[in-house]
Amino acid sequence: MNDIKENKGRFLIETWGCQMNEEDSEKLSGMLKEDGYIETTETSEADVIIFNTCCVRENAELKVYGNLGRLKKLKNINPNLVIAVTGCMMQQEGMAEEIKKRFPFVDIIIGTHNSHKFIEYLHQVKDDKASIISIQPKEEGIVENIPIDRKGSVKAFVTIMYGCNNFCTYCIVPYVRGRERSRHYSDIEKEIKDLVSEGYKEITLLGQNVNSYGKDLEPKLSFANLLRKLNTIEGLERIRFMTSHPKDLTDDVIEAVRDCDKLCEQVHLPVQSGSTNILKKMNRVYTREQYSNLVSKIKKAIPNVALTTDIIVGFPGETEEDFEDTLSLMKEVEYDSAFTFLYSKRSGTPAYSYENQVDEKVKHERFDRLKKVVNEISQKKNKAYDGKTVEVLVEGPSKNDSSRLMGRTRTGKLVNFTGDKSTIGELVNVKITEAKSFSLLGKEVK
Ligand code: 5AD
Ligand code: SF4
Repeated sequence: MNDIKENKGRFLIETWGCQMNEEDSEKLSGMLKEDGYIETTETSEADVIIFNTCCVRENAELKVYGNLGRLKKLKNINPNLVIAVTGCMMQQEGMAEEIKKRFPFVDIIIGTHNSHKFIEYLHQVKDDKASIISIQPKEEGIVENIPIDRKGSVKAFVTIMYGCNNFCTYCIVPYVRGRERSRHYSDIEKEIKDLVSEGYKEITLLGQNVNSYGKDLEPKLSFANLLRKLNTIEGLERIRFMTSHPKDLTDDVIEAVRDCDKLCEQVHLPVQSGSTNILKKMNRVYTREQYSNLVSKIKKAIPNVALTTDIIVGFPGETEEDFEDTLSLMKEVEYDSAFTFLYSKRSGTPAYSYENQVDEKVKHERFDRLKKVVNEISQKKNKAYDGKTVEVLVEGPSKNDSSRLMGRTRTGKLVNFTGDKSTIGELVNVKITEAKSFSLLGKEVK
């Protein structure tokens, strides 16, 4: 990253949503710093405020509305303040107009496909003293070489593909992120090698469905072969990837994880529901049995693999029996952890107009039952680490106790431990002394 050229002012970015949005924010931050802006955490001293929004669930949108309302006061105090709203929520049809109508003081509204032009828009707003609404309806090719201001210094996310072709019936993502586009291998490799030379040790490859990586490239490169190639990068210690769609997680990917030393024993495999009936309505294109078989195959090939998942509770038409199928799948697979979501109606998706929407009270009651089962299993999985010695990549001081260090196991478990601060950024062995509900405690052993 270039040094600050001139101090043009301070910026603050607030991000909602997934790692993709986090990465987009790191790029916005990178571009602003390169242009001479400095980051601040205080809204009151910011000259540029960006809300990078998410629309996967309604809650995320409601938070944006609430927070935008509060910014009006700041704009009255500082008329030069530039307020921008970007991201998935803006990419929805009609949303930009709605935001402009409800919050006329917003200066820049852009979507997901043109956020790389943010600095251009910012200069325009400052020069012309007029607001900009620019939503590019369709994705274009991938824009490379955008400066990224990464949050961490030990591990980083690297996007390998953008968009999604799956159209699960509940999901807004394909409408706001466009169709699948893979980055060229040479660009991915360069980014990772640069990260390694800066001291990064772990990368997580990102994409809505990483298993379809490379299908659109010429010549084609399969995801499994991408993994095998990246595994040869010297100085890189760990590789993870997310998200995998169960219908596309092929044997060659499982074999690559089994064979490649840098590939961590962790697979995030969203199931969404344990009921074949609901899976069909969700357009997930696999049955419960197919999913179970896939899990068995992964467990057999990769001993001690940590499996994680996403679950939606209360999809339209979900009966008590369907929900119990989800509970029984949790018990069968024994996930290390699961992200649980209440089904949220998204306008523009097929499930929006499905009949038999589940009553909110029933949804919440099922959600609580699911959480209980998920947490019990996570705790049981953590208990199995008690007394074991595990490899931890040291990330820095613990969040709640700076006399301790924190890092993660290859299986993705959070470990707080006593050790030597000089090991930050290195792999150490830690003996686990106590398994807590959501983390492990331990001490470094030489
Ligand atoms: N309602 C609830 N959860 C959703 N997800 C996606 N769309 C919705 C929705 N409409 C969840 C899925 C996905 C995760 C990122 O978000 O579980 O895997
Ligand atoms: Fe959404 Fe399904 Fe694509 Fe995941 S695979 S982003 S849930 S449409």
